[in-house]
Amino acid sequence: MKAVYFTQHGGPEVLIYGDLPEPQAQRGEVVIRVRASSMNYNDIWARQGMPRLPVPLPHISGTDAAGVVVEVGEGVHNVKVGDEVMAHVLQSCRVCPSCLAGEELFCRAMQVWGFQTGPLIGGYAQYARLQASQCIPKPAHLSWTDAAAIPGALVSVWRMMVTRAKVQPGECVLVFGASGGTGTFAVQLLRAMGCQVVAVVSSERKAELCLSLGATHTVRSDRQDVVREVLRLTDRRGVDVVFDHGGITTWSQGIACLRWGGRIVICGATEGFDAQVDLRVLWNKQLSLLGSHVGTHSELLASMAMVNSGLIKPCVTEVIGLRDLGDAQVRMQNRQTLGKIAVEIE
Ligand SMILES: NC(=O)c1ccc[n+]([C@@H]2O[C@H](COP(=O)([O-])OP(=O)(O)OC[C@H]3O[C@@H](n4cnc5c(N)ncnc54)[C@H](OP(=O)(O)O)[C@@H]3O)[C@@H](O)[C@H]2O)c1
Ligand SMILES: [Zn+2]
Repeated sequence: MKAVYFTQHGGPEVLIYGDLPEPQAQRGEVVIRVRASSMNYNDIWARQGMPRLPVPLPHISGTDAAGVVVEVGEGVHNVKVGDEVMAHVLQSCRVCPSCLAGEELFCRAMQVWGFQTGPLIGGYAQYARLQASQCIPKPAHLSWTDAAAIPGALVSVWRMMVTRAKVQPGECVLVFGASGGTGTFAVQLLRAMGCQVVAVVSSERKAELCLSLGATHTVRSDRQDVVREVLRLTDRRGVDVVFDHGGITTWSQGIACLRWGGRIVICGATEGFDAQVDLRVLWNKQLSLLGSHVGTHSELLASMAMVNSGLIKPCVTEVIGLRDLGDAQVRMQNRQTLGKIAVEIE
């Protein structure tokens, strides 16, 4: 089968487009013929290599996939050959107390599929092996590329905003990286929930996209002082909630933008993770600093209800082929991409 993989960490030059043997379903697993995958920033983390997070080599990235089941392993009853499915991004044991409580994120066997799994288990291939329990039905109204653009980003955003921050209708939420893969889902989800959305973006094109998705205001980080502008927009009160994945810079800006009693949720640190907190601000303003990571199967199903009712649409701005992944990763690192990039797999 055709796949994109790497055998060592490095820049985009380590990506190989080539032939690999097709995977075979083990007990409790299925193999799907992948029709589409989509890019996430963790493609770049995996390729570069991360301290204290070993990535099995050789590695196929691709945390999202949509496709047709072509083989089911022993003991699989929830899907059959021919089913059209989307992949939830988490693998877990499904039998430990955390899994049974629906919190597979806390399972000791939890792995993000196409990122921590392997060798050679991910979505950037014609065929991919996954746990049968990861499969959810692909809604008929979604194209393959739209379906593949949804699971990882949407479930992460849902957990951040609904489960962790417990965002309420009418609240004002500051969204960093609002035009990106997670950001475009955050803007739509928050608008559908009746929130005011202040979208932080670094260009006019990104601002226009966020306004078209329902952002109430945009703040231009390339030419405005983010904190001053947010305080001006909120009459010096500050925002109720901050959605963050930027890291060092955005973390301190986000905290400065919060109202007294506000909460900030973070799921990533693209710019670096060594951020600081002034503890006096934390206790005086009585802030809640919240971490969030991916999302559970039940959170994915809950978020899919909003996709099925048309309240949220994946913001796919480009459809590329497997051979284009290296170039697209470079553009993503250079902040030149918008929304989600789907990868069509022929
Ligand atoms: N733990 C989890 O569950 C989870 C889930 C999803 C994503 N994440 C993490 O969240 C981050 C964003 O993921 P994503 O898929 O939304 O990425 P994305 O599509 O590339 O969007 C990220 C946005 O962040 C902004 N940004 C700020 N500093 C940047 C920098 N130094 N390099 C690149 N972009 C920068 C860019 O917007 P502007 O140019 O407008 O600032 C960009 O549009 C990544 O670190 C990812 O690993 C974590
Ligand atoms: Zn478990």
